[in-house]
Amino acid sequence: MDIEAIQSSYSRWAPIYDRTFGAVTHMGRRRAVDYINRRGGSVLEVGVGTGLSLEHYGPQMQVTGIDFSQDMLDKAIAKVQRLGLKQVHALRQMDARKLDFPDGSFDTVTAMHVLSVVPEPEKVMAEIARVCRPGGKVVITNHFARERGALAALERVFAPLANTIGWHSDFPIDRVLQERSLVLEERRSLPPLGMMTFLVLGKVAG
Ligand SMILES: C[S@@+](CC[C@H](N)C(=O)[O-])C[C@H]1O[C@@H](n2cnc3c(N)ncnc32)[C@H](O)[C@@H]1O
Repeated sequence: MDIEAIQSSYSRWAPIYDRTFGAVTHMGRRRAVDYINRRGGSVLEVGVGTGLSLEHYGPQMQVTGIDFSQDMLDKAIAKVQRLGLKQVHALRQMDARKLDFPDGSFDTVTAMHVLSVVPEPEKVMAEIARVCRPGGKVVITNHFARERGALAALERVFAPLANTIGWHSDFPIDRVLQERSLVLEERRSLPPLGMMTFLVLGKVAG
């Protein structure tokens, strides 16, 4: 997807996101946030969207969120204010391809249901790796293309509609595993039907 398509697509999604796509992807967000809470420290959430994860971070966390879509971000800002989420330190409009943070800024960087949306996911992975401190973790939940079966065929049918629906239904996992400073440590399929995959990658030290 190009960045203009993201802007217009997520401007349409923002008012209904929490009751639609947001509701059916609950499991992946909880799995990621539970893992991050156990680590503690600072976390950058790339593509924080309407902020559905934010209330689940523990009070010991320092959370920063960024998103390209101001319409999605406005929903997240409203949640933080309404729920008084003190663990959320900043929510900023930003392109994940060019993160405005120094190298090694965060103990953990997470991207939930984002990598099959962004243009140039390899560039986003390089930025995620750059701002994660050496020895830190990158936590990802995403839908990745299946290689075979009826659902794989369905993914290919929806693939040309990426700009309309707002994500690539046939996104290959290899595109997030090629970053050389990140080593795959954990990979699990999540219910229902293994639709989403949970990944933990470690940033190599030094
Ligand atoms: C499917 S939503 C996921 C939102 C949230 N992470 C969740 O799990 O509910 C994808 C988000 O990625 C954001 N996004 C897409 N491209 C981006 C980019 N280049 N930089 C920052 N955010 C981006 C969209 O604006 C949207 O909010």
